[in-house]
Amino acid sequence: MSIQSILNEKVTSAIHQAGIQEEFNPAVRASTKPQFGDYQVNGLMGIAKRHKINPRELATNVLTHLDLDNIAEKVEIAGPGFLNIFLKNEWLSSHISSLVQENTIKMTDQKKQTIVVDYSAPNIAKEMHVGHLRTTIIGDCLVKVLDYLGHNVIRANHIGDWGTPFGMLIAHLEDIESNAKNHQQLSDLDMFYKEAQKKFKENEEFANKARKYVSELHNGNKKIISQWKKLIDITMSQNQTLYNRLNISLSQENIMGESFYNHMLPGIVNDLLSKNIATKDQGATVVFLEEFKNRDGNPMGVIIQKKDGAYLYTTTDIACLKYRYETLKADRILYCIDARQNQHLQQIWAISKKANYISEDVSLEHIQNGMVLGDDGKPFKTRSGKTVKLLSLIDESESRAYKLIKEKNPTLSDAEITQMAKLIGGASIKYAELSKSRTTDYIFNFDNMLSFTGNTAPYLLYAYTRIQSILSKSNLNNSLEQKYKFIITNNIEKQIALQVAQFEDVVKTVAKDGTPHILCSYLFNLSGLFSSFYESNPILQESEEIKNSRLLLVQIVSIVMKTSLELLGIESLNKM
Ligand code: ARG
Repeated sequence: MSIQSILNEKVTSAIHQAGIQEEFNPAVRASTKPQFGDYQVNGLMGIAKRHKINPRELATNVLTHLDLDNIAEKVEIAGPGFLNIFLKNEWLSSHISSLVQENTIKMTDQKKQTIVVDYSAPNIAKEMHVGHLRTTIIGDCLVKVLDYLGHNVIRANHIGDWGTPFGMLIAHLEDIESNAKNHQQLSDLDMFYKEAQKKFKENEEFANKARKYVSELHNGNKKIISQWKKLIDITMSQNQTLYNRLNISLSQENIMGESFYNHMLPGIVNDLLSKNIATKDQGATVVFLEEFKNRDGNPMGVIIQKKDGAYLYTTTDIACLKYRYETLKADRILYCIDARQNQHLQQIWAISKKANYISEDVSLEHIQNGMVLGDDGKPFKTRSGKTVKLLSLIDESESRAYKLIKEKNPTLSDAEITQMAKLIGGASIKYAELSKSRTTDYIFNFDNMLSFTGNTAPYLLYAYTRIQSILSKSNLNNSLEQKYKFIITNNIEKQIALQVAQFEDVVKTVAKDGTPHILCSYLFNLSGLFSSFYESNPILQESEEIKNSRLLLVQIVSIVMKTSLELLGIESLNKM
């Protein structure tokens, strides 16, 4: 159990004994300043206010019932009614030793949930853009964190593989194939899409063929279906290359694209009509939502079927939500999507709840992300204004990483540097995404993300290799020396212990709020504390007892760092 939870329980029971029975939040937090102790209780003022009692009196009363004899050295009442808790070093060190076992960090069991994480979701026959890169990286980190906490996690890659453009795309694919130039042009998906669009606009015969193909696709014509599948395969195998290079855990098995829900759409529209949730409006089928107003202040109309019979992105997402609840039995669904799609999500959630497709208990969450910008503060594009190819972005990151490592460590062999550069190149892009608050826009800048100083992947990976070299000098690795005993002898060791103790709270916060940057800041702080420890605390020349205690601390930090990096989807290196 984390220290926060232990103290929370103790404080809660003392508050009960002080006569307060109804629900409250004692708000136990790690203190921000040493003079406030190691943990503080912030909730007493709020509770006192609600009960119209003097907060300092309540604090005094709670303190008399608070049993922290083994845990705390002292507890002080501060300010209007805070409690500052100063932990005992012996308790803290044995707590840490009980947390870290073998080479993992123990987590307190939680109720196991089925959690669907909707992320990446590129569109077929289009290049994945930097926006997709962001949801891919953030979504994959959340998947790893939720997995680590023991949940049943379902990765859902809701790819855009359906819709009227497929008629023109299939017609264009046919032209290309008959020209025997074959797949060559298909390596450039954006070009392929643009050419198809151009032909559709300019060539009447082509446009008619495209329309015919759309209806043949809907009617299940075998040849057209197989062309459609080919487009999906080509696009998704390019995307898979990207996933692999970035160590993203998505595979072809996780594809549950828009087309997967096609067969449900007519039923959904009929059902919404029969429940009087949808109405016919000028030939289209529309749901008017009271809770969303349009510009004129009237209820906003959400189209679920167009006049020509076509279904929409919204219709598919309603069916998809129903499926995730009924069939996948989701307790929680995380939509890792661009912030600009928030209204779309609010609408499909509202409609699905009205229609009882989903229970109120299911937690529906938009894990919004802001935009990726270039150095000029505008949406990230190439100099000529085109979408940036993600694979070439990774190439560039790797080659920059190669130069940096070679400068730092010229004695390494070329093969070694190449291998490290591969890892660091991808890790730097990922870490740059993960370490920023996901809701704000962020500037994509290679110099910053590949810097060896600051909160970056190279800095942390390098810090980790330094720890590995300390361990290997003592013939140790990440498997804990259980016979060593950890003793806190000074303040910096205590700070590290407190930080280690917070690992569980941090991981659970990331899982709850979908905020990987919290884990990144944690890792960065831990690594900073560790370097101050290492600079001021000799290890090998100390007495046997202290030497072993410090080596154990090094091992513990190493395990926490490695685990954190793994949760961020970053492989660690043993030397650099
Ligand atoms: N394919 C969409 C896009 O590129 C994202 C889909 C997100 N998931 C969803 N269930 N709508 O914008």
